[in-house]
Amino acid sequence: MKLLIINGPNLNMLGIREKHLYGTQDYAALCAFCREQAEALDVEAELFQSNHEGAIVDRIQEAYQKIDGIVINPGAYTHTSVAILDALKSVSIPACEVHLTDVNAREEFRKISYVRLACDKTFAGYGFDGYKMAMQYLKETYGK
Ligand code: DQA
Repeated sequence: MKLLIINGPNLNMLGIREKHLYGTQDYAALCAFCREQAEALDVEAELFQSNHEGAIVDRIQEAYQKIDGIVINPGAYTHTSVAILDALKSVSIPACEVHLTDVNAREEFRKISYVRLACDKTFAGYGFDGYKMAMQYLKETYGK
């Protein structure tokens, strides 16, 4: 089983950005964490990060018929991007939305998620563990 783990804008700034919200571990630590989980679950994991909406749309399109599950933290694009929502719907790949923070307990605008409409599940507020939960869910539900 091949999973694609997508991180959107500013997630490359983990460990630097708003540490009181996002913690002190950096993006490399998140990648290492996801790779460990992939090994434990016996799945392949590809990691992709971009600050650009179109690049994320391109990566989702490239996944068509090649990837079995998508874990996506779209960062701020969560709350704005119909293009990423449409890309996920276009490829019909099972997807889960992840947020490090509990977006429902923050500003009003963070409660809106377009991407969620194309996702089976949302894991928000569990830090790195949210990625693990999403990977586990995809493996249990769609694994081969
Ligand atoms: C985030 C939450 C978003 O609202 C924010 O724009 C991010 C990170 C999270 O992981 O908690 O960049 O997706």
